[in-house]
Amino acid sequence: MSGKVEYLENNDGTKIQPIGLGTFASVEGDCERAVLHAIDVGYRHIDTAYFYGNEGEVGAAVQKKIAEGVIKREDIFITTKLWCHFHEPERVEHACRKTLENLGLEYVDLYLIHWPFSYAYYGDNEMIPKDANGEVELVDIDYVDTYRAMEKLVELGLTKSIGVSNFNSEQLTRLLANCKIKPIHNQIEVHPALDQKELISLCKKNDIVVTAFCPLGRHNAELRTPTFMYDGKVQAIGNKYNKTIAQVLIRYLIELGTIPLPKSSNPKRIEENFNVFDFKLDAKDHAILNSYHTGERVAHARQAIKSKYYPFNVYSACF
Ligand SMILES: NC(=O)c1ccc[n+]([C@@H]2O[C@H](COP(=O)([O-])OP(=O)(O)OC[C@H]3O[C@@H](n4cnc5c(N)ncnc54)[C@H](OP(=O)(O)O)[C@@H]3O)[C@@H](O)[C@H]2O)c1
Repeated sequence: MSGKVEYLENNDGTKIQPIGLGTFASVEGDCERAVLHAIDVGYRHIDTAYFYGNEGEVGAAVQKKIAEGVIKREDIFITTKLWCHFHEPERVEHACRKTLENLGLEYVDLYLIHWPFSYAYYGDNEMIPKDANGEVELVDIDYVDTYRAMEKLVELGLTKSIGVSNFNSEQLTRLLANCKIKPIHNQIEVHPALDQKELISLCKKNDIVVTAFCPLGRHNAELRTPTFMYDGKVQAIGNKYNKTIAQVLIRYLIELGTIPLPKSSNPKRIEENFNVFDFKLDAKDHAILNSYHTGERVAHARQAIKSKYYPFNVYSACF
């Protein structure tokens, strides 16, 4: 790989690599292999979540690489997330300790509120509680109260930093007015069909880094969706720089000022996705990529649409 990977600084002074390995749906050995390989390739930023059921595999890989002397704990940035059934303030510390036990680590670098809405709690493993009608059982817990409990985790040294995910502009603004520790990140869906320019700009104004999930639109090779992953126009951009469509999309997100989190369990694609620091897109490339914006989402969380904390006020179609 050529091209220098410049680290970014978060608003609390911690440093982070401008790309991270996504791990959603990476389980049963795949996740551990992916993280081991990613660390060898040079990734120093891994994104996981309690909900993904793979914190154990992420932790095992990180511990192996520490034992091999490839990295030290402080060299790698691990983000994980508080799931929706743990939002009662008195459950937050328990949830974080459980996550640390899964990871086998003494602290995480960043702990995010995964979604602003909450679910009922019937046990640590009951992540999707259902009511009598078979619908997800929502409860009204204010995310500001949950966040205040997250702030205590920083004081306890269980996480270095805290942040949020899937917060819209109103929720973020309200949180900023009511918190002691500013969130360092808002992790949201970003790709050409959902460019999030306004929310990114609000985050920038408040010195909050946006991490971009579904950077490749969680594409479907059979359906050839979303369009931007399969379009000759994006391939033509790639051809100019000798890059693939995925590399063009990842580069685009970096140039929009976000940190993309491409998920892969495939060794070649893990390398490919990291190899994006030796070229720059020009204004014409940006104009082409911007033209795919439709507002379509991959992650709707429709099950929570009745929550007063549902973040996507405008309900858009999915790919
Ligand atoms: N905060 C949230 O609510 C939230 C929601 C969704 C996702 N996330 C995070 O963001 C990460 C990324 O999102 P995502 O996993 O949904 O979708 P994604 O990264 O957009 O797409 C992943 C898919 O693309 C494939 N892929 C990876 N690299 C490729 C390449 N170079 N060329 C072609 N295909 C490629 C992967 O297959 P292979 O594995 O076979 O390569 C996988 O099927 C997640 O893993 C998770 O960490 C967070």
